[in-house]
Amino acid sequence: MSTVPEHVAIIMDGNGRWAGARGLPRAAGHRAGAQSTRAVVETAREVGVKALTLFAFSSENWQRPKAEVRVLLDLFRRTIRREVASLYDNGVRLSFIGERSHFSTALQDDMADAEARTRHNQALDLVIAVDYGGRWDIVQAARSLARDVLAGEFEPDDIDAERLSARMSLSRFATPDLFIRTGGERRISNFLLWDLAYSELYFTDRLWPDFDADSFVEAVNWFAHRERRFGGLPATRRKSLG
Ligand code: IPE
Ligand code: IPE
Ligand code: MG
Repeated sequence: MSTVPEHVAIIMDGNGRWAGARGLPRAAGHRAGAQSTRAVVETAREVGVKALTLFAFSSENWQRPKAEVRVLLDLFRRTIRREVASLYDNGVRLSFIGERSHFSTALQDDMADAEARTRHNQALDLVIAVDYGGRWDIVQAARSLARDVLAGEFEPDDIDAERLSARMSLSRFATPDLFIRTGGERRISNFLLWDLAYSELYFTDRLWPDFDADSFVEAVNWFAHRERRFGGLPATRRKSLG
């Protein structure tokens, strides 16, 4: 089995503190963070990661001051527009998960264009979670199942983990093997609640703008030494029951 994680999910946290430590406005931290994102996407592709899911804006981030929300969404839009050509050239397929209906039509159009333009690419799946919440994802999956029950497609008792998984935003992908959170907090902050059930969790104090290609490789190397059991026993101990 390959030791390179097939799917990596990252909470890119610590932009504000990075800027604060330098006496800069939080916006400068977000701009610096965008550079880290670029480096990590490139490195993920180089080391053979197949899918990378990045948390860019949570359903709770709307609670931030309006000016910061504007900075984040402007930067998000400009980054998509600026990067889509080189992502395309590098074989990256871009897609977005989250409740995009709250965004401006212009931003929604750019997102749809970027998805359409890169949809045949196969080197790396880059999934950006925006206005995303793990609870929202489970709720929309439950609604979708309820609609099918009402339509007589199947019975409530036919609903199982596999059926629910098929309605989750990341249903196209294997679940994340490796989860990374930068910025020192040890929490999930309503990211992929369903999908992280058996992911290896890697936390680092490094702030996102300081997280570079080497930091990503360090996390991937840490993953290579995990023993994943999924509730079973490791291969070496399976025999000892006799
Ligand atoms: C992560 O950095 C970016 C987003 C949440 C959009 P923060 O803005 O949360 O930075 P800190 O945690 O305040 O340092
Ligand atoms: C999580 O970071 C969301 C993103 C990185 C997009 P937050 O900074 O919003 O999380 P909390 O508030 O520390 O839990
Ligand atoms: Mg934060």
